[in-house]
Amino acid sequence: MAQPLLEATNISHSFDYPLFTQIDFTIEPTQSAAIVGRSGSGKSTLLHIFSTFMKPNEGKITLLGNDLYSLSGEEIESLRRYDVGIIFQFHHLFKGMSALENIGVATMLSGEQIDDTILKKLEIDHLMSHKTSELSGGEQQRVSIARVLNKKPRIIFADEPTGNLDKETAELVMDVLTDYIKETSAALVLVTHDENMAARCDEIYTLEDQALKK
Ligand SMILES: Nc1ncnc2c1ncn2[C@@H]1O[C@H](COP(=O)(O)OP(=O)(O)OP(=O)(O)O)[C@@H](O)[C@H]1O
Ligand SMILES: [Mg+2]
Repeated sequence: MAQPLLEATNISHSFDYPLFTQIDFTIEPTQSAAIVGRSGSGKSTLLHIFSTFMKPNEGKITLLGNDLYSLSGEEIESLRRYDVGIIFQFHHLFKGMSALENIGVATMLSGEQIDDTILKKLEIDHLMSHKTSELSGGEQQRVSIARVLNKKPRIIFADEPTGNLDKETAELVMDVLTDYIKETSAALVLVTHDENMAARCDEIYTLEDQALKK
């Protein structure tokens, strides 16, 4: 069995009330996992925990071979910059910059070149000189996905990456994400409300009653 890219054990977290209790989750290279569940069940919170942005009340996370809660701030920063790809529910492009500049910032930080094939596959290569404010919501979403893939992450966490896309464009984005993880032996953890997108993953988990069920 390959070394997991992410191994989470006994993760528990509460805000005003317990959100989840003793969750275990593992993902290996080339694998994709969907996490589904009702609005408010804690999917985004769990993704924030998996991706280093939040610390749970209890539990242990080994991400890319690192015991997260024994790393320094600098080491976590470096993991985020070079190895972890995060596509959040609300994408954060710099408004005054062109699409190309937005992607360029990320690649500069991670020391990678801009990959034209990714832009072509996402059908945004012709939009590179447009300012963020001149792009449609779905185009902005695809630019933010290109930005993440361009830094060549070893694991991708995506929260509703196809949320405001039509079915055809959503399929295209899923094609690009699944091709990427197969080609680079990365992994994808996808939070979605879209059953078709969930069905395209190797595993589907449901977050309900404070537990993550297969
Ligand atoms: N920082 C916070 N402080 C307090 N409560 C929070 C915080 N973040 C999230 N919550 C609460 O935790 C619950 C789970 O939120 P979360 O965003 O993880 O849900 P979700 O499953 O992603 O929902 P959706 O499908 O609507 O995106 C919600 O009731 C939310 O109000
Ligand atoms: Mg959410």
